Amino acid sequence: MAKRGPTYVCQACGAVYHRWQGKCDSCGTWSSLSEEAQAAPVPGGGRVPSGGRARGRIFALESLKGETQDAPRIVSGIGELDRVTGGGFVPGSVLLIGGDPGIGKSTLLMQACAAMAMTGRRVVYVSGEESTSQVRLRAQRMGLAEAPVDLAAETNIEDIIATLGQGERPALVVIDSIQTMWSSEVESAPGTVTQVRGSAQALIRYAKTSGACLILVGHVTKDGQIAGPRVVEHMVDAVLSFEGEGTHSFRILRGQKNRFGATDEIGVFEMTGAGLSEVGNPSALFLAGRDQDAPGAAVLASIEGTRPVLVEIQALVAPSALGTPRRAVVGWENSRLAMVLAVLETHGGLKLGQHDVYLNVAGGLRVGEPAADLAVAAALVSSLTGAILPSGAVHFGEIALSGAIRPVSVAAARLREAAKLGFESAVLPAAGADIGDGNGLRLRRLSHVGELVAEIAASAPRARSSQRAQQADR
Ligand code: TYD
Ligand code: MG
Repeated sequence: MAKRGPTYVCQACGAVYHRWQGKCDSCGTWSSLSEEAQAAPVPGGGRVPSGGRARGRIFALESLKGETQDAPRIVSGIGELDRVTGGGFVPGSVLLIGGDPGIGKSTLLMQACAAMAMTGRRVVYVSGEESTSQVRLRAQRMGLAEAPVDLAAETNIEDIIATLGQGERPALVVIDSIQTMWSSEVESAPGTVTQVRGSAQALIRYAKTSGACLILVGHVTKDGQIAGPRVVEHMVDAVLSFEGEGTHSFRILRGQKNRFGATDEIGVFEMTGAGLSEVGNPSALFLAGRDQDAPGAAVLASIEGTRPVLVEIQALVAPSALGTPRRAVVGWENSRLAMVLAVLETHGGLKLGQHDVYLNVAGGLRVGEPAADLAVAAALVSSLTGAILPSGAVHFGEIALSGAIRPVSVAAARLREAAKLGFESAVLPAAGADIGDGNGLRLRRLSHVGELVAEIAASAPRARSSQRAQQADR
């Protein structure tokens, strides 16, 4: 018999302890345990009674072979949202949208609700954070006041599910946000991980049985995790995150997990005075206002999901006054920068050990793919030597620890996007699939970082390049 008494639940990962401790052994988070009432035991405990017949209902098993059907889709009408979900919402599926407070989750979902309600489907928007008049006011500001969306400002899960069962079955239900919901069957306080999990379970059961598509909104903590609902991430069919830099007006919707489509797909939006508008050509947006005559900037032809996107990589390499030089990165991985720096030192002959290095992906995009290595290296060498890179050139390629430049996937699509935006040349790996005439771009194919360093340094202003040469000799 399990011991009764208070239990302590990690609010980050949901691990349960019988005694309080400072650090969660399961996920390593400090001070995340809080006391919650004992969770009710699982009925039946999942065991089959020895000898006797189990009490459950007997169901027919199906064969893996047999008819298959593509999941039917309900298109939201917002192209960038449908792209990230993989072609629309799947009936009976549950989607979690995470993001910082104020990033625009409620705005995006209200627009999706309105667009879908306009097609004649029943849509219910349940807000646990704002009153119905607040929601209505915002919808009016966005010009969506006429959309036949059913509104509620409720937080009790049992009440919500009972109400949803009345009348026509909704095609889409939005719960904004899951952290504000509470179930009377769970004893813990609202907002605790046990409540969030219990509420999500009940809602997911509702979605699966009713066939409605359910969207849960989840707030994100400072370190980028969906607070509490990290446990919810495992239960839902898709997790999307809505991101953006406070100083920029555009927002990126990114697929993190998707049972019905590709992950890594991004949708790009711009926050305007009348809600979010879709950005059809993200490259033009990310490259807008770039300073083409400054050293330290290289254009990367990257692939986000299935779509090529051009972004500017900015580097600043400056002599350091500190014993341990600073390395700061925005929009890329720290460890990847350390690797590129080490390769440039070892195989490119650069001396970077006494320099602070700052790296920024312009426009607030977060780049994950290794094809960025070459653009990062070019930006670093450019900043160090003072050589300005040709403004009409794009870069892509992975850098190996040996200094070799390795081929990357979908080179042709990257070149096509560059040509479309008026770029004239591309710096890319020597090896790789046939890319035909490269869409009319001048191709500079490199096989080693040494070639990259030599080429950029050759165009550097003389005073600085001779100074670099001296440094390299030492
Ligand atoms: P909101 O959707 O409430 O964010 P979340 O639900 O993620 O917390 O967005 C709030 C922000 O969006 C707020 O700072 C104002 C801004 N905003 C606009 O700039 N234009 C608009 O039309 C709307 C509705 C909001
Ligand atoms: Mg909101």
